[in-house]
Amino acid sequence: MQIIDGKAVSKAVKEQVKKECDELKAKGVTPGLAVIIVGDDPASQVYVRNKERACEECGFYSEKYALPAETTQDELNALVDRLNKDEKINGILCQLPLPSHLDDKEVINRIDPKKDVDAFHPENVGAIMIGDYNFLPCTPAGVMELIKSTGVDVSGKKAVVIGRSNIVGKPMAMLLLHANATVEITHSRTVDLKEVTKTADILVAAIGRAKFVTADMVKDGAVVIDVGMNRDENGKLCGDVDFENVKDKCSFITPVPGGVGPMTISMLMRNTLTAAKIQNNIK
Ligand code: GUN
Repeated sequence: MQIIDGKAVSKAVKEQVKKECDELKAKGVTPGLAVIIVGDDPASQVYVRNKERACEECGFYSEKYALPAETTQDELNALVDRLNKDEKINGILCQLPLPSHLDDKEVINRIDPKKDVDAFHPENVGAIMIGDYNFLPCTPAGVMELIKSTGVDVSGKKAVVIGRSNIVGKPMAMLLLHANATVEITHSRTVDLKEVTKTADILVAAIGRAKFVTADMVKDGAVVIDVGMNRDENGKLCGDVDFENVKDKCSFITPVPGGVGPMTISMLMRNTLTAAKIQNNIK
């Protein structure tokens, strides 16, 4: 069994992005990312801080908008409208979840699809479905990079995704399909889940429940990717996979933390670089 080092793969992606960013700067273009966070959810604050730090590492220009929890939909919409028009800003990311009185769908739909570095806008989601896209959704794209780093060829393999969210499960299945896997999406209503997950050569867990995937659910030699970010009974950070028990059955497995998490941010940097190139007609 080998543990996939998400930090190392992420660092390599960021180094490549930085190199391309330097080339863009030589042409007078600096990629710019605006990050919006509303309220004071501690996990979101950590994610946003990490995104700002990654911008610095890559040489990007960044702006952070930390808005109070009482922000109205009109105020948030006005900020998005302003950032849509701002030429220094190539990518706009609104950290989710938003406080419950705000409508995340309204915000997602309002962001200019050309600046939608999360790839959440329906236009970009549709483009991904067809396989003709500029931006890949950050977390699934990060998972694909991690699988690539193992050297395992996805083509013709059976891939099972646990979870069907718009952010991870559904686009994840699509990217695996584009890589010629035979894909099955499972979820909370799936009957005999274990029978399905045991068929997976590649198993991606994106459920949001601590240590949900146990050793009896995993095929010998599978590649196991853990997208989960939970707290266990002792308040310790853990994934959706029961790592200690599952690890000996796998060929490759991602740890939590240090697996998928760092990749999501690197892919956001790559999308912001792509956005800057497209908006400035640079190949
Ligand atoms: N919250 C959790 N993951 C994400 C993400 O990838 N993008 C945004 N905007 N919010 C998130």
